[in-house]
Amino acid sequence: MTRMIPEKALEMVRREANIDVWRDPLPPPYETMIQNVRGVDALLCLLTDRIDGQLIDAAGPEIKVISQMAVGYDNIDLPAATARGIPVGNTPGVLTDTTADFAWALLMAAARRVVEGDKFTRAGKWKTWGPMDFLGPDITGATLGIIGFGRIGQGLARRASGFDMRVLYHDTQRRPEAELKYGAQYAGLEALLREADFVSLHTILSQATYHLMDDAHFRLMKPSGILINTARGPVVDSAALYRALSSGTIAYAALDVTEPEPVRPDDPLLTLDNIIIAPHIASASFATRSRMAVMAAANLIAGLKGERLPNCVNPQVYEH
Ligand code: DGY
Repeated sequence: MTRMIPEKALEMVRREANIDVWRDPLPPPYETMIQNVRGVDALLCLLTDRIDGQLIDAAGPEIKVISQMAVGYDNIDLPAATARGIPVGNTPGVLTDTTADFAWALLMAAARRVVEGDKFTRAGKWKTWGPMDFLGPDITGATLGIIGFGRIGQGLARRASGFDMRVLYHDTQRRPEAELKYGAQYAGLEALLREADFVSLHTILSQATYHLMDDAHFRLMKPSGILINTARGPVVDSAALYRALSSGTIAYAALDVTEPEPVRPDDPLLTLDNIIIAPHIASASFATRSRMAVMAAANLIAGLKGERLPNCVNPQVYEH
């Protein structure tokens, strides 16, 4: 295990296997993982760990499963695992509402400038009630554009319906059931960017979505537009985001994810007032992190026993 995980899950695994846990709060360096992985039967990892063919080969022939405690798994070279017949597990579903809640929190905090207001108060700058101070756009009745309309994107649409928002979505496929359920309308990417007051990203990170939000796409957004990213940092070109925020091309951004993570202390984004940057905590509720860990443990144990993983992202490994 590449980090300590909630006790309930640790206990499940302890009943089945001897565990070697990396106890440092920071992730193990790649070279250390290469050393420590030798001879393991199973690996429980996090999104902070690079898992590639070299690392899987360093583990040796006994490795039977890679279990990631996250829904996203772009840190894992999936084709390399599949080519070696190793099933990879993830933790979908259990973090949907918690993550959608956080995306919603970022949306509201950005629109109503909550973090800026707090910094202002702490800096002793609050001298009076000002009729023109800290103005922001209304959320009720505004247009929300959701890019990536899977579970979490739909979770955000559900929240938006309580605020009478018009919801546009863009995805690689039409989602007719969700359209009906949430009153969401499908839109081409460019139309969505032009029309939305808020744009929230919920895609996976892939070659197709890498730097999806670039200069050209920021230019399509409204100057009053607000970007929310709780997906993966590299979906946004952060240099382009800096240019968009500092030139007034868009008004505000709220990120839970950055490229790289953690954000570099000298990243120019940190010099701006019109951005909120949270440290990748959208799924961080007590209950959800515990459920994610239990799900990752269940995948791990199934793999150890040679059973099909309850949540496997490369089921092709079972075809032969
Ligand atoms: C995930 O699960 O992929 C999130 O980014 C962290 O919970």
